[in-house]
Amino acid sequence: MKTYIAPSILSADFGNLQQEVEMVNKSDADWFHIDVMDGVFVPNISFGMPVISAIKKHATKTMDVHLMIVNPDRYIEDFKKVGADILTVHYEACTHLHRTVQAIKAAGMKAGVSLNPHTPIAVLEDIIADLDLVLIMSVNPGFGGQSFIENTYKKVEQLKNLIEFSESDAIIEVDGGVTDQNIQKLADKGATAFVAGSFVFKSKNPTSTIKTLKALVS
Ligand code: DX5
Ligand code: ZN
Repeated sequence: MKTYIAPSILSADFGNLQQEVEMVNKSDADWFHIDVMDGVFVPNISFGMPVISAIKKHATKTMDVHLMIVNPDRYIEDFKKVGADILTVHYEACTHLHRTVQAIKAAGMKAGVSLNPHTPIAVLEDIIADLDLVLIMSVNPGFGGQSFIENTYKKVEQLKNLIEFSESDAIIEVDGGVTDQNIQKLADKGATAFVAGSFVFKSKNPTSTIKTLKALVS
């Protein structure tokens, strides 16, 4: 099974963004995970289009953009323009999720849906066949550096079952508190994409931390 390590730029040194992007380019990482927060859906504001464009200018890998914003439909085309390859919206932020997912695909991106820790897998039953990716939040979205919520393992397992039952091609991605201590168990349950922010960027040697994570799930 192909696996994907996605370092979260939220934990990078924004003063040295180009260097951080080049570190990821040269590493064993597969994707850039890019967290957009609006201060409304989540209690924090991260960055928007100009910063994503700046990342894209140097990035040589897939841009995995995670929107923690209300009304994401307003910006789908804009995220495509600044370089998103995968665009993930929150289930909790979309009243007409089916329409949003179709619009993301029509704009030429892979479509992902993210679930907060309290949102059950079952809500995806009627949309799973249309999704390229499901992002399970293993912390409450809004900040890097929080601890992993153990209930995530059960959710990954349930999602894996739903995907198999529905003959969906969706990838299972886990986001929040991912470390060398939980990544293998997540992979065993069926996850294949792993976001890691602080564990990578706050480590002494981010390149070798990425290598370690990749090796644990390869
Ligand atoms: C949290 C973000 C995450 C965050 C992960 O709301 O969606 O992508 O950057 O950071 P760590 O790996 O430090 O939990
Ligand atoms: Zn994220």
